[in-house]
Amino acid sequence: MTNLKHPITRRTFLGAGASFAALAPTVDAWASKPKTFQLTPAPTTFDLVGSKYPKTPVWAYSGTVPGPMIRAVQGDRVQIAVSNGLAENTTVHWHGLRIPNGMDGVPHLTQRPIDKGENFLYDFELPDAGTYWYHPHVRATEQQGRGLYGAFIIEEKSPPKVDRDITWVLDDWRLTKEATIAEPFNHMMDLTHGGRIGNSVTVNGKLLDTLPVHFGERIRLRIINTANARIFGLMFDGHDPQIIALDGHPVQPHAPKDNMITLGPGQRADVIIDFTADRAKQHPIRDAYYTRSAYELGPVVYAKEALRKKPLDTPITIAPNPLATPNLKTASRHEIVISGGAMGRMREATFKGQVMGIRDLVGVGKIWALNGIAAHGPVMDPIFTLKKNQTYIISMQNDTQWVHPMHLHGHAFQIHTRNGKPEPYTPWVDTVLLGPNEVAEVALVADNPGDWLYHCHILEHHAAGMSGVVRVTN
Ligand code: C2O
Ligand code: CU
Repeated sequence: MTNLKHPITRRTFLGAGASFAALAPTVDAWASKPKTFQLTPAPTTFDLVGSKYPKTPVWAYSGTVPGPMIRAVQGDRVQIAVSNGLAENTTVHWHGLRIPNGMDGVPHLTQRPIDKGENFLYDFELPDAGTYWYHPHVRATEQQGRGLYGAFIIEEKSPPKVDRDITWVLDDWRLTKEATIAEPFNHMMDLTHGGRIGNSVTVNGKLLDTLPVHFGERIRLRIINTANARIFGLMFDGHDPQIIALDGHPVQPHAPKDNMITLGPGQRADVIIDFTADRAKQHPIRDAYYTRSAYELGPVVYAKEALRKKPLDTPITIAPNPLATPNLKTASRHEIVISGGAMGRMREATFKGQVMGIRDLVGVGKIWALNGIAAHGPVMDPIFTLKKNQTYIISMQNDTQWVHPMHLHGHAFQIHTRNGKPEPYTPWVDTVLLGPNEVAEVALVADNPGDWLYHCHILEHHAAGMSGVVRVTN
C-alpha cells in the first residue's frame, strides 16, 4: 500500500490553480503543523484477482485498492485534500473518528457534496488512537462497492511492543467470470435480504497468498471490514489471537469468542498474535462466519529460521482513548426499534411523511425502518435529540430476521448488555453487530454537537431506508 507520507502526483485534469474550500474560523486557531494527504477518487483498473484474469475496472482513491493508507499519531492534525475525479459527486467519511460535524462527510447533512472536478479540504485533529477507515457517503453501495475505501491508522504515543504492525483491509467483491464487477448494484434481492454478498474476498486489494511469519514473532494485525455486506469470522488455526482493540478503542485483551474474530461491515479489530505453532506445517486462516460456505483465505507459513525461541512476554494492553465516562445514575433512555426486510413483521412504515404499506414501500425500494420511519436520504428530523455532555442509554432492538451492524457517527458508545446479559469487557465501539431479534443496550456521553447519522453498515440496508439522525445540541 502507498503511504501518503510520500507525495502523490496531482492529477492534471484538476488544473494547477484549483482552490480548496477552507474552513476559515478554525484553521488559524490550531497551533500544530498539519500532516497533509491527497486523495483522488477516480475510475481506474486494478489487478484484484491475479494475472490469470484481466484487470478489473474499479473506482479507487489515487489509483489503488485500498486507497492510500493514512497514518498519523494520536493528537496530530491532518489535512486531507480530496479531488473528485469521478463522474458524479462524492464525499469522504472518516469512519469512527470523533471529529467536528462539518468534517464528517455526510452529503447535505454535514457538507455540500463534492462535485465532479471539485476539491474539498478536510481538516481535523485526531483525539483517539486506533484503527479506522475512510469511504464515500454518497451512493455508497456503488461508490464503496466499486473500490473506494482505505485504512486510517492512528498510532498510540506508546504502542505495545510488536515485531510487525500489519493492516488487513478486507473486502468482498461480486465479480463476473471476466473479473469485472457484476451489475446491478441495489438489486431488490440484496436490498431486502443480507445485502450485496460477493464471491471474491480480497485482503489489501489482492487475493491473499500466504501470511509469512517467523517462529516467535509477535504481530499486531489490524483488520478492517470494508465489504458492503459480508460478515467475516476469521480463525487462525493453531494460533491464539488476542483482541486488544475493537473499532479503534482499547479493550481488555482477550481471546475472541469461539476463537473466531467476527467483524460486520464497518467494524475493526486489532489482534496480537504470537506465532508459536509447528514450523513444519502450514496453518490455514479461515473465514467460517457462514458455516455452510466457510473457505480458506490463505495459510500461515513459517520461515525456516526462528526469530526467537520463546514469544515476547511484554504487556499487550493499550492506554484508553480520552472518552468521557458515562454517568449511568443520571442517564436518560432512548429506544430504537429496527424493523423490515424479508420475512419480517413490518407491515407499514412512514416514508417522506406518509404512512405506506409494505407493497408500496417495496415499490420505492425502502423496506427497512427505524422507529417506524424509512429514511429517504440523510437529511431528516432526528430520531431523538441529546443534550451535550449528558449520558444516555440507548436500547437498540433488532426486530428483524437479519443481522445488522448499527453504526453511529461522531461518537463511540459502550455496549453494556445484549438481551439483558452483561456484555463481556463492555467494549467501546462505533458499530454494534445485532443478531436477529437481539436487543443491545449501549451507553454514551453525547459530547460532540451536531446532526449525526445512525445507520446499518450493510450498505444495501442503509440505502433501503435503515438510517436516521441523532442530534446532539450545543
Ligand atoms: Cu462507515 Cu456512515 O459510515
Ligand atoms: Cu442491516
